[in-house]
Amino acid sequence: MTIAVTAVSLLHHRFPADFCWGVATSAFQIEGAAAADGKGASIWDQFCQLAGAIKDGSNGDIACDHYHRLESDLDLIASLGVDAYRFSVCWPRVQPLGAGAWNPAGLDFYERLVDGLLARGIQPWLTLNHWDLPQALQEQGGWAARATVHRFVDYARGINQRLGDRLTGITTHNEPWVMAVLGHQLGIFAPGIKSRAVAAQVSHHLLLSHGLALQALRADGCKAKLGIVLNMSPAMPATDSAADLALAQMHDARDLRWYTDPLFNAAYPAEVLAELGPDAPQIEAGDMAHIATPMDYLGINYYTRHVASAGQPFDAKALGLPVTDMDWEIYPQGLTELLLRLHRSHVLPPLYITENGGAFKDPLSDGQVHDADRKDYLQTHIAAVADALDQGVPMAGYMVWSLMDNFEWASGYEKRFGLVHVDYATQQRRLKDSAHWYREFLQRCHAADHRARV
Ligand code: FCB
Repeated sequence: MTIAVTAVSLLHHRFPADFCWGVATSAFQIEGAAAADGKGASIWDQFCQLAGAIKDGSNGDIACDHYHRLESDLDLIASLGVDAYRFSVCWPRVQPLGAGAWNPAGLDFYERLVDGLLARGIQPWLTLNHWDLPQALQEQGGWAARATVHRFVDYARGINQRLGDRLTGITTHNEPWVMAVLGHQLGIFAPGIKSRAVAAQVSHHLLLSHGLALQALRADGCKAKLGIVLNMSPAMPATDSAADLALAQMHDARDLRWYTDPLFNAAYPAEVLAELGPDAPQIEAGDMAHIATPMDYLGINYYTRHVASAGQPFDAKALGLPVTDMDWEIYPQGLTELLLRLHRSHVLPPLYITENGGAFKDPLSDGQVHDADRKDYLQTHIAAVADALDQGVPMAGYMVWSLMDNFEWASGYEKRFGLVHVDYATQQRRLKDSAHWYREFLQRCHAADHRARV
């Protein structure tokens, strides 16, 4: 981790004044209020009810109760001194059945959120789909059904009509790979389906709906920056054996290029289509061109790398390598490598790291959390972004996952990713040491246009 050690003390000097610093959350993970004010059920509300689906048997009914604590949470966000807040809209809160009638109370909530951010000088970055599809649409086939693509475009237009004039950025989907593969192939996330063919079709419909939504929003005069957010773990071979190299390449094609190739080059990787055989998605004429609709930015969520091993599975923890509480290897240089590689392969729009952060044990003592491990994680990864910037990658922003501890999907509340500690019994929020560090770092970043002076 040499990157960090050399760079940390002067880290703020390495970013331009207009670099966008933020924090991120998603609706299901923080809002709670699962049945309040006319909200419909989502596939995550449903999935949490399945025995064994969530590690600690919890659900999102209350979560961080953000829905009822909006004003004080907005103050909390502002207290960090961030430029931007990335959040998502819970589709069934604003359109309970995923089609037809809108729910005024739900729309009002997001309007108060957006206006509250603007009043505090914070850019709103809105994600339309961070996984909580209306359950009513799941019952009509969910993302496997082509009709859902059109429902999503209508939903995007409705949100834009109400809020678009005040948004800095709109993200269509968060991490289509996770929705497709974890949700529809492995079945460990909602909606809990286990079919490779369904997963492939879902990924195609997610991408298609992304492209069609971009076109519709632009036709409607939307001025917000439009893009998608992909999770990316660069695949690296465990050894330089031919088998490991081949496996790493296949992972790269399946997990990363399956998304970037259609978005940038209007084609799926041929080797993955061949591997899927009869499970390959049905693609209609014109779909690929729609998917490749130019984006204003690309969001990247980076947590770790993927080490491909044809032999024994690579286990960073067992090897004594640094890992987070998710057992994800801490590997900041992978972020620089990933960004450089994308830069070499494509003509990129501005890139934002839309999520980066770590879960750690975070013991609370005397009302404080001394999370030096999270601070190190953030510093080294921010330094990795600076390294990419130095080498010409068009980096435009970085957002920490997450503002506060929250519902970590199938892991429930056991894994804490927040800069802010949440006591779920009392809903008290407390800034961890990492939050204090991030705030001071941002103050230094904002103090002057460092890069221009160098
Ligand atoms: C990402 C998700 C986000 C959060 C982090 C830890 O895959 O987008 O909601 O759960 O992982």
